[in-house]
Amino acid sequence: MRAFFFGILSAILMIFVGGYLFVRSGGISLATTAAPLPFEEKVARMALHASIGTAGSQHNPLTLNDDNLVAGATIYKQHCAVCHGAPEQPPTAISKGMFPPPPQLFEKEDMVTDDPEGVTYWKATHGIRLSGMPGFQNSLSDTQRWQVTMLLAHADKLPQSAQSAFAH
Ligand code: HEC
Repeated sequence: MRAFFFGILSAILMIFVGGYLFVRSGGISLATTAAPLPFEEKVARMALHASIGTAGSQHNPLTLNDDNLVAGATIYKQHCAVCHGAPEQPPTAISKGMFPPPPQLFEKEDMVTDDPEGVTYWKATHGIRLSGMPGFQNSLSDTQRWQVTMLLAHADKLPQSAQSAFAH
């Protein structure tokens, strides 16, 4: 029995020592220019999914109208566009230098129009650690975070008023 526990203990110890040596010898590069690690995306996706939990079932308490979409566009332009880009604009140098790259939320293939608004709201509120995505809990009000969430949920069908809010 003692030998059994000793075996398990040394296996655990070897995993820790191995992990330490791997990291210590540069096995995990933190350069944004380095290639992704094996399983990096899978593990990050799983952890994010678990962190969001049931928050995705939260509905947007605001009424869908032009005023809220225009307010959302103004907030987006000020706080999000530097990383996530704006309609008809090329990606910024900042966005091109980040890893993971910030999705371009007004490019068809990156839009989050199909995500539940509760999920987008959670991300805008809490941010995504080790990715560069900031949490805006302390800098934008609940209403502002729901307005920008509404904007992103309707990114493919914005009224003229919201579209022109990007221009000025
Ligand atoms: C400093 C750069 C930066 C800023 C500013 C920023 N983000 Fe992000 N954001 C990111 C990055 C990087 C990711 C990708 C994270 C990942 O891959 O896990 C991201 C991810 C997201 C996602 C998830 C997209 C998807 O495809 O699932 C949403 C939604 C989002 N951001 C919304 C916002 C909103 C709203 C704002 C402004 C209030 C904002 N972000 C500001 C860097 C930024």
